[in-house]
Amino acid sequence: MAKVIHSIEVLRESLNTHRLNQQRIGFVPTMGALHEGHKQLIKTAREQSDIVVVSIYVNPTQFGPNEDFEDYPRQLDQDAALIDGIADYIFAPTDDVMYPLEESTSIQLNVGHQNTVMDGPVRPGHFNGVVTVVNKLFNIVQPDVACFGKKDAQQLAIIQTMANDFHMNIEIIGVDIVRNAQGLAESSRNVYLSEDELKNAPILYNTLTGAKQLIKEGTTDVNRVKEYIEKRIQCESLGQLDALDILTYPTLKHIDTIESTDESIVIAIAVKYDKARLIDNIIM
Ligand code: PAJ
Repeated sequence: MAKVIHSIEVLRESLNTHRLNQQRIGFVPTMGALHEGHKQLIKTAREQSDIVVVSIYVNPTQFGPNEDFEDYPRQLDQDAALIDGIADYIFAPTDDVMYPLEESTSIQLNVGHQNTVMDGPVRPGHFNGVVTVVNKLFNIVQPDVACFGKKDAQQLAIIQTMANDFHMNIEIIGVDIVRNAQGLAESSRNVYLSEDELKNAPILYNTLTGAKQLIKEGTTDVNRVKEYIEKRIQCESLGQLDALDILTYPTLKHIDTIESTDESIVIAIAVKYDKARLIDNIIM
């Protein structure tokens, strides 16, 4: 069973012993409610390192006032059981440990251009909260490698920028999206979906695959691809399209035409169901 640790000092002491033994530390930050997507991150970290630390912390600073901070599933025992045998340490701090200072005296990081697109404007403060907590977690764990999912493509791009910008000696690894048999991306928020919505939700991925196909067949006009996505979600989804972006990746710059340049592009969508806002993307 992975060892559950709540204190920074105890975690540091354990990890220092491993470091002295020349063992590489892999790190997977999460907010818990673990699923197959998280497990894939942990397996990837395991391949890249000797010791794997998983953090489970529902970070208050990345939730907006009308978001699901209170309702976010918290299930430490269940999570520990799910990753039994694949993780070595679970770091599960309290708010007091992560944010010891009064809010007025604490420091927050500000994300630049990458915060002005996609979910940046839709979720003000979200990515500043994410980089702030990941920065804290990196300082606590001091990993050699850290794994993040491509499911949150914007988050991955922003964290890579932070690591570069702050000269962090941490290798950031992006892990492919894990989907269920119907194509729905695994997410801790899928539990908010009704039975009908759950059946309907693979439409996100089906639409993205359709858009990718259009581009492969020669469509270069970004607006035409967007129209295709808008129509399909409007006609076939039980939810509402909440965000749609086609950008360069990982620089997240707007484009009008899709050219076969060196940089990848990301097609990203968000669909609002009754109680869940689902995101999905394809990087090509
Ligand atoms: P959380 O939503 O728990 O996700 C933790 C990690 O799991 C993220 O890197 C996310 O991209 C990855 N992930 C989630 N679903 C996935 C899937 N279906 N396939 C592959 N990877 C998947 O993202 C966060 O937590 C937080 O913002 C955090 C980085 C922990 C900071 O609080």
